[in-house]
Amino acid sequence: MIENNKIIVVGSTNMDMVVKTGHIPVPGETVLGGDFFMNPGGKGANQAVAIARLGGKVVFVSRIGDDVFGKQSVQLFEEEGIDISGLTPDGEEPSGVALITVDEVGENSIVVAPGANARLLPGDVLQVLKKHEDIGYMLIQLEIPMDTVKEALGYARSRGIQVILNPAPVNKKVMDLFEYIDVITPNVKEAEMLSGRNIQSIEDAVEAAQVIREKGVGKVVITLGKNGAVVLDEVSWSHIAAREVATVDTTAAGDAFNGALVVALSEGKALEDAVSFACDAAAIVVTRMGAQSAMPYRKEVILNHIK
Ligand code: RIB
Repeated sequence: MIENNKIIVVGSTNMDMVVKTGHIPVPGETVLGGDFFMNPGGKGANQAVAIARLGGKVVFVSRIGDDVFGKQSVQLFEEEGIDISGLTPDGEEPSGVALITVDEVGENSIVVAPGANARLLPGDVLQVLKKHEDIGYMLIQLEIPMDTVKEALGYARSRGIQVILNPAPVNKKVMDLFEYIDVITPNVKEAEMLSGRNIQSIEDAVEAAQVIREKGVGKVVITLGKNGAVVLDEVSWSHIAAREVATVDTTAAGDAFNGALVVALSEGKALEDAVSFACDAAAIVVTRMGAQSAMPYRKEVILNHIK
């Protein structure tokens, strides 16, 4: 019998250019920030690294530029033990780049120049899926073309692969694909967009989750930052609290969460337990600057678990 606990991550690879600043500038404003640093990012790549560090078996599908950033990313993925057979160097577009500012309380603002990520094709995903019969889970985000997301989801459904979709950056077109999604993981802003509800409390988040589920998604997990997450399945909802930590940088907290969530699901954990593990992973990432460099290892998450 084929074990089907391998995870496919379909998504973006970026190089992040980060500046720490007292406050995030408003339109027309220039601010003098702190130190600049560059570190590998991209929602897809961050999630793949999180999975590898947390002990999951992961194959990553992404497009990188045929340039120095692309080469650095490949080297890092190999060092992390990620299967890179799904990486395609693109001859026409450069690697994706993200410009990130992080303020004093760790909140960020991000602008992405997608570059090669905008040329990730449905065929790039399908050829990897066809090669790996043991894939049981797909983790996918929205920094790649919507047509590719659509095809990937349709094929995953035809194979019985569980789909976890992280709707970031949010795009309302994803609502047309809700029936193909087993678990959706919006943050508050994304959940507000997808539900049309304003979220100020846990009760509001539960109501937003109900609206999203009624539109056809299997299960809904709304991440609430330092307030943990709300989980809604076919029968009930629950609230999972997050550990209190000193936040330095919230960049990639959602990526750590999603990577950890799918690892726990691939190990057969129930959704609530998987969300608890994911909250613990995200609580570690926010105490460190950066994206991939901040991803926790499994033993750190287990050591910091409060239950
Ligand atoms: O989720 C954080 C990521 O968003 C960053 O690494 C940046 O590259 C953007 O994709």
